[in-house]
Amino acid sequence: MESLKTRIEALTQEIKATVPATKEELEAYRIKFLGTKGLVKEVLAGMKEVPADQKKEAGQLLNAFKLLAEGHYESFSHLQENSTAGMQLADLSLPGADRPPGTRHPLRIVENKIVEIFEKLGFGVAEGPEIEDDWHNFTSLNMPADHTARDMQDTFYVAQNPDWLLRTHTSSVQARVLEEGKLPVRVICPGRVYRNETISARAHCFFHQCEGLYIDENVSFADLKQTLYAFVTEMFGEHTRVRFRPSYFPFTEPSAEMDISCTVCGGSGCSLCKHTGWVEILGCGMVHPDLLRNFDIDPEKYSGFAFGMGVERITQIRYQVNDLRLYSQNDVRFLKQFRANA
Ligand code: DAH
Repeated sequence: MESLKTRIEALTQEIKATVPATKEELEAYRIKFLGTKGLVKEVLAGMKEVPADQKKEAGQLLNAFKLLAEGHYESFSHLQENSTAGMQLADLSLPGADRPPGTRHPLRIVENKIVEIFEKLGFGVAEGPEIEDDWHNFTSLNMPADHTARDMQDTFYVAQNPDWLLRTHTSSVQARVLEEGKLPVRVICPGRVYRNETISARAHCFFHQCEGLYIDENVSFADLKQTLYAFVTEMFGEHTRVRFRPSYFPFTEPSAEMDISCTVCGGSGCSLCKHTGWVEILGCGMVHPDLLRNFDIDPEKYSGFAFGMGVERITQIRYQVNDLRLYSQNDVRFLKQFRANA
């Protein structure tokens, strides 16, 4: 037992004094102490000679020694990596790491498509401010202060000035365009609008619309129907059917809502069309003569039509998106699905 102790002490000193500087020196240490015929194995074999009553103490000594020898080796493991021998150089001819391209937002894809179709029909694009005043959003469009139609649109007002609000519809851009006084007018006005609605799958406090306005001499309801029919067949396919239902908007007379045959079931009934075969896509009508007068345009000489559609609605129909919240959650898993259409 005493000789075992002395031997372990001597070897411990030797291990501590061994400071390998290269991978090769480290390997020499490993072979000498930790190899199958190395000194650690040899010392461990000495256990056989230890008398039974001292085996416990000897076992602890030997175990500590073995751990020390192994730990010493580990503490130089960085030498293995530092060696260039056998190291694989990067293949510089490989193509670089791919950076995934961004995708267009589905609402932008649809808005671009709407604009593209109407541009082909001779419409230009007009824009207006999102913070509007009462005149452009309501009063000039035949909605004076006490008009009940204002209740249809829960408005966000700007606290500093009760005359200012976040526009509730892109119809306000009609007013902006008409006050410029240039005729004829043939524009579409895409943009964001705001309403004080509780956010849910079917409602949001901001969304997007696209307004259309055409004013010239001799514009008739037939022109309105033909223009919107051309739009719908371009947007949803040539077999799409349309129907107009009488409706009411303060800024048009007569007014209508336009439905298209359901693009999902083709008319036989499904959840998109609520089993009616038809889906509503926009409001429209002949521009009210009072509105023309508000902008010093002679209704005896000029007439026109207007329409307004929800971009989210068109996107929902095109891509079967059933929750409005998805558009503003910025979830890549949703957004990347539209890559192919960008
Ligand atoms: N501004 C209407 C809305 O937000 C949509 C609309 C309907 C616009 C009829 C029009 C129109 O220009 O003629 O619900």
